[in-house]
Amino acid sequence: GLPEYIKIVEVGPRDGLQNEKVIVPTDIKIELINQLSKTGLPAIEVTSFVSSKWVPQMADHKEVMRGIERHPGVQYPVLTPNLQGFNSAIAAGATEVSVFGAASESFTKMNINCSIEESIEKFEEVTKSARNMNIPVRGYVSCALGCPYEGSIAPDKVAEVSKRLYSMGCYEISLGDTIGVGTPGSMKKMLEAVMKEIPLSALAVHCHDTYGQALANILTAIQMGVTVVDSSVAGLGGCPYAKGATGNVATEDVIYMLNGLGINTGVNLYAVMEAGNFICTALNKKTNSKVAQASFNT
Ligand code: HMG
Ligand code: MG
Repeated sequence: GLPEYIKIVEVGPRDGLQNEKVIVPTDIKIELINQLSKTGLPAIEVTSFVSSKWVPQMADHKEVMRGIERHPGVQYPVLTPNLQGFNSAIAAGATEVSVFGAASESFTKMNINCSIEESIEKFEEVTKSARNMNIPVRGYVSCALGCPYEGSIAPDKVAEVSKRLYSMGCYEISLGDTIGVGTPGSMKKMLEAVMKEIPLSALAVHCHDTYGQALANILTAIQMGVTVVDSSVAGLGGCPYAKGATGNVATEDVIYMLNGLGINTGVNLYAVMEAGNFICTALNKKTNSKVAQASFNT
């Protein structure tokens, strides 16, 4: 049967905003995170400690990290590609970090400017330091269902990179459909390969909705036993190093589906829609959440 509880990891403030061309004011980012903190979401990805030359939108990472109100029981992870990013994140008060690798050589080179092997070495430095400080580390594997440069990616390659991140101490592996090309068919094959190497309880799915398959892919993963789902308020998002990658699946739409399945998330759908309305108004954008569109039109 289906699980009773699904953990939602809100990635909007990071994955959602990183692709915005116009720099979003720091106080808007902080207000968005503060609103999301009151919705019942258990985890909110705050920002990235990456190079501001590569991703100018995340240049205010320190100010955002320091400026937010942290609610007890809510996790506030940040992206850290290397030891330099990790040290800056910790100095700014981060208590959880994520390393982000990929199952594609070309994507790894375009995204973090190194090979998969070199990325693993950098992530090992991060996990080693993090272990000494009792900081939990999450691991992303991008291009799990396809790569913008290499096309299809072998499920075994996803399993191999996932296993290396898990073995070095990442407590959870988030499998990213970076460009949203996956279908329930490819999701099932990929998860079958990864599940041979990693316990289901340590897996998350991170679906972009480029081809409109995200909810179907998430449902497939849940039916296979995955209990952690990444999503983005208002369906904001996209990776600047993955051309054509549109938004993440909308948090509102995932919660609506899970509510309908009788699966508890602990998240107040209406409160998330209000946070979505806030950020869409600030960005002067229409929401990508079908549920929010439907609700605000009636
Ligand atoms: P690099 O140029 O190869 O780094 O960049 P380097 O080690 O050679 O250093 C060069 C310069 O970068 C130096 O500065 C370093 O100080 C600086 P300079 O001396 O020239 O002034 N530097 C840094 N600055 C700030 N923070 C750091 C850092 N490290 C070095 N951590 C680097 C390597 C990884 C930094 C770069 O490629 C980068 O920042 N990439 C951005 C990647 C990114 O943020 N991508 C989007 C997130 S991933 C994603 O969206 C996918 C995901 O959502 C899952 C999915 O959907 O699949 C997670
Ligand atoms: Mg993403």
